[in-house]
Amino acid sequence: MHDWTKIIKATTVQDPATGAVNTPIQLSSTFNQASFDEFGKFDYSRSGNPTREVAEHAVATLEDGQFGYLFSTGMAAISSVLMTFSQGDHLIISKYVYGGTFRILEEVLPRFGIEHTFVDLSDLDAVAAAIQPNTKAIYIETPSNPILAVTDIAAVADLAHQHHLIAIADNTFMSPVLQKPLHLGSISLSTRPPSFWRVTPTLWQERPSRTTKN
Ligand SMILES: Cc1ncc(COP(=O)(O)O)c(C=O)c1O
Repeated sequence: MHDWTKIIKATTVQDPATGAVNTPIQLSSTFNQASFDEFGKFDYSRSGNPTREVAEHAVATLEDGQFGYLFSTGMAAISSVLMTFSQGDHLIISKYVYGGTFRILEEVLPRFGIEHTFVDLSDLDAVAAAIQPNTKAIYIETPSNPILAVTDIAAVADLAHQHHLIAIADNTFMSPVLQKPLHLGSISLSTRPPSFWRVTPTLWQERPSRTTKN
């Protein structure tokens, strides 16, 4: 099925309350519960919301992923991914990353004991040489912002998986219509800068055969 057809099908979900074909925008922050201690699917919009759920499903569909998570900005998505690592972990990062990503790596994460090494990911020997016993992930951004450095996602993801590391790809510039990192072995992180699409910076998880997120 063509990507555009997938998106149309994923977003035109009939609203069970009204039969509306287009997904209604739910503005409520809080949702009524059946009883005091019996929680429904949604309780508070920060943790889940029917409109966002449809959009997350749509982007996961476009990526051929199992789950999609939407954030209010790309840096919120990237920060959330990076904050899944712990004190003492080490990350290998593309030498050519977006400025916001560079700053969180240089100025914020070291305060939490999360280390990194910047490497030119087009040099696989250099990537392999940078792997340490405490390395947990390789972070790709391709094409990169602003110099459009291109990384071979499949090659880097393969190397990552050989060493039991997670491969993460910031897919902002290509979008999942033109590049699908999950197909190439990498968890995908795609952001839409505000000038494009204000509320859809997204993070897609899951790589069926290569991560434990199945
Ligand atoms: C490659 C890349 N990653 C992340 C971001 C951050 O996205 P946001 O500005 O939505 O936080 C940008 C923004 O331009 C970007 O180009």
